[in-house]
Amino acid sequence: MNLHEILLLENKAWAAEKLEDDPQFFIESAKGQSPDYLWIGCSDSRVPANEITNTDAGKMFVHRNIANMVVKDDANILSVIQYSVEVLGVKHIIVCGHYECGGVKAAMGPINMPIIKEWLKDVTELFVDNKSLLDNAKSTKEKTDMLVELNIRKQVHNVSKISFVKDVWEKGETLKIHGWVYDLDTGLLKTICEISSGDIPNDVPLGMA
Ligand code: CO
Repeated sequence: MNLHEILLLENKAWAAEKLEDDPQFFIESAKGQSPDYLWIGCSDSRVPANEITNTDAGKMFVHRNIANMVVKDDANILSVIQYSVEVLGVKHIIVCGHYECGGVKAAMGPINMPIIKEWLKDVTELFVDNKSLLDNAKSTKEKTDMLVELNIRKQVHNVSKISFVKDVWEKGETLKIHGWVYDLDTGLLKTICEISSGDIPNDVPLGMA
């Protein structure tokens, strides 16, 4: 059997299991979505948003890209965030990075693929701007993980600066942006930072405003 055929077969098994658990599942699902969360994560295959949070289909709107970036001129991420807050009305945006992130590692050294280099330029800038802090790391792994955390804070900060996110807060509505990191060694998520209003949080490192 070809690798792709396994997926089609597994899909049949999954749909049958869902129906067995809840005969109404697809009838309800087809009516529309009302997810509680927007997840912005890394494309890394080891960090599947729904699986690591035990969330069922319909509970989470998901956007993933290399290094969980929120780039201010990227129409893809901006449209996902706008739709989430203005149409779906999600109250929680989760920016989830992970230790050992290949994108973050790449941003620390020369990148010979121009498109990826451009995509990761904000992480490279973060690396350069925080060099003295990162030089305190005792190992390359620790340095990467520190930059992973800095990048999560930076991307949370970027979400908080988007005009339609600020509009939600100005209307007095609730919207929390959470910065989480996933630990591949333990399978556990850890909170790095949180923003629940338009105020610049104290925990954003220097030089990142
Ligand atoms: Co990654």
